[in-house]
Amino acid sequence: MSRHAPGGQALRTRAGQALARRLGRDAITGMITHWARERSVVSRHIYREAMARVGAAVHVVTTAGPAGRYGFTASAVTSVTDDPPTLLVCQNRASDANRAFKANGLLCVNTLAAAQERLSAVFAGMTDCDMDGRFAAAEWGTLVSAAPVLAGALVSFDCRIAQVVEVGTHSVLFCEVVALVVGPGHEGLIYFGRRYHPVRVTVPG
Ligand SMILES: Cc1cc2nc3c(=O)[nH]c(=O)nc-3n(C[C@H](O)[C@H](O)[C@H](O)COP(=O)(O)O)c2cc1C
Repeated sequence: MSRHAPGGQALRTRAGQALARRLGRDAITGMITHWARERSVVSRHIYREAMARVGAAVHVVTTAGPAGRYGFTASAVTSVTDDPPTLLVCQNRASDANRAFKANGLLCVNTLAAAQERLSAVFAGMTDCDMDGRFAAAEWGTLVSAAPVLAGALVSFDCRIAQVVEVGTHSVLFCEVVALVVGPGHEGLIYFGRRYHPVRVTVPG
């Protein structure tokens, strides 16, 4: 016997059925659940559907140097440690930009303010712009490295790439922060449920 989550995936195992009983059908409404005991059978599609429920800040990650000037939109950015200050960026390997980032050995993570939402589409390649056209859509400076620093970003982390680990389709770039600038904006941008949402600090009254 199997119970079916609304997403159409069967909860086939005893453990899966127990989970469904515990959560109840309402709790799993809209959730695609696939429970497997012996090996990973979570497809790319299901994994991506699940990750769409995990909100994340939106960044434009840039590099410049002998391998060229490139930038791409990324949400897979997270802090690793504050000593030494290190963050990681996950970048798809199937692009010229990936080779250039690794060859230049430096990058800047520019966290978008709500008002900069348009740049997310531009740097995700969703417009007609070539790479120079993408950079023409905003103003840029530099800090310590040569990587472009976005004017008006919530915060920009200027980094040297300290280590690269290849995992599946992506390169995990471990980056040591060599300088940063905190911008004037107070309204952030979150990508959640495949949509953009502005977020702001509210002071409890
Ligand atoms: C909101 C959002 C988040 C993204 N996050 C990532 C990411 O973390 N890593 C990545 O490699 N690509 C990410 N992408 C996709 C890249 O921005 C896009 O595939 C890339 O720029 C390829 O386009 P291009 O080859 O025209 O430059 C994201 C796209 C969007 C719209």
